[in-house]
Amino acid sequence: MNPGVAEAVGVTRPHRLDPARLRAHVAAELDAARRRSLGLLEPVSDADLVRQHSPLMSPLSWDLAHVANFEDLWLVRALGGAAVGPGYDHLYDAFANPRADRPSLPLLDPAGSRRYLHDVRGRALDLLDRAPLDPGHQLLDAGFVYGMVLQHEHQHDETMLATLQLMDAPGYRPAAPSPPPRASGPTVDQEVLVDGGPFVMGTDTSAWAYDNERPAHLVDLAPFRIDVLPTTNAGYLEFVEAGGYSEARWWSEAGWAWRREAGVAHPGNWRPEGQGAWSRDRFGWVEDLPPDEPVQHVCWYEADAYARWRGRRLPTEAEWEKAASWDPQPPTKRRYPWGDQEATPARANLGQDRFGPVPVGSLPDGAGPSGCQHLVGDVWEWTSSDFRPYPGFRAFPYPEYSEVFWGQGYKVLRGGSWATHPSAVRTTFRNWDHPIRRQIFAGLRCARDA
Ligand code: AVJ
Ligand code: FE
Repeated sequence: MNPGVAEAVGVTRPHRLDPARLRAHVAAELDAARRRSLGLLEPVSDADLVRQHSPLMSPLSWDLAHVANFEDLWLVRALGGAAVGPGYDHLYDAFANPRADRPSLPLLDPAGSRRYLHDVRGRALDLLDRAPLDPGHQLLDAGFVYGMVLQHEHQHDETMLATLQLMDAPGYRPAAPSPPPRASGPTVDQEVLVDGGPFVMGTDTSAWAYDNERPAHLVDLAPFRIDVLPTTNAGYLEFVEAGGYSEARWWSEAGWAWRREAGVAHPGNWRPEGQGAWSRDRFGWVEDLPPDEPVQHVCWYEADAYARWRGRRLPTEAEWEKAASWDPQPPTKRRYPWGDQEATPARANLGQDRFGPVPVGSLPDGAGPSGCQHLVGDVWEWTSSDFRPYPGFRAFPYPEYSEVFWGQGYKVLRGGSWATHPSAVRTTFRNWDHPIRRQIFAGLRCARDA
């Protein structure tokens, strides 16, 4: 490994808080995650919590009790505690029960799900007081298992937001106003050139990284160009109005078959209002389509077709990660596009403050080393890559997080969305989904060979 590059592998070592401070940090983050989960569902009636709103999604109270069960497994039993709800393991095992089957299971009612959450948390906090958070225990080293459970709860909060969006749940409004579009700044078709050469992909040291982000390894890329901004509603509308959904030549073969079968002609939350006017629906709240916001609710097939129509392609996930994390001078790997400092509202639109993306160009402080903006937050970005292990991958701590998904036709998404919590995303973070999925908060950014 070239010495400059090898040095960069070490830059994201988790700063090792002393155990007392790490414990306090973990307890505060667990509490914040729980307030988020319960707060999200507060406006929803019990009837709506137990109903299945879409065969693609779980009943919301399944998500709640599943979060409790995961914590019961990892923060109680795996750490030597007595199970709080051993009888619930099968009901809330995602692999034993496909989403479509979940409503017919004898599930806990909403009050029972909340009680399970509460009881597990009590026992987990007792164990946290005594947990040796040191390198002698792989699960506990730097608080790893707590980070895993915390990210799991936030991931399910994002999943629940997708369910709430599909069911047009009323009562959700942004806590913070959107920043106005910027008068000056990059234009929607502005690109940057990313030089060819090796960079460090993935991580060995990033705090609370998942097994699929490891190990760090060198990847040598040809130079490429990538858009400074994600694709906007206005940009995507040109494709729609040009008849992009009725011409097979823009689509992959599987994509065209999907398009015909699904019978769709625009992104999932757009509504045609006649005479060329469009609105978009989020959480039952219908507004004129905002031209400057990143497009969302497009599946991989749509993203791929749009990029081809534009004379572009989707970036590979390696290209995306290099543009987001790699500062060539001196060779440094950034945990976030802007550096290693925590996210702020001026850097990234995360954590559902706005219940939607913000106008492109409005967060210049979040730019990556390449100059690309909105890499983290706003919308997940589809990449051209299949979800595969990095060389030297080892499943940890359980194969069902990543390993069972290799080679199953999943596509990788990067960067997190407006619904992603800051603790559940970083430049090395990999998300994945089927190429037909459009209920997730996903859009795209175009690239091309240099
Ligand atoms: C990483 C978002 C694909 O939701 O299936 C939640 C996260 N894993 N519970 C998913 C996850 C186990 C996962 N994704
Ligand atoms: Fe889960």
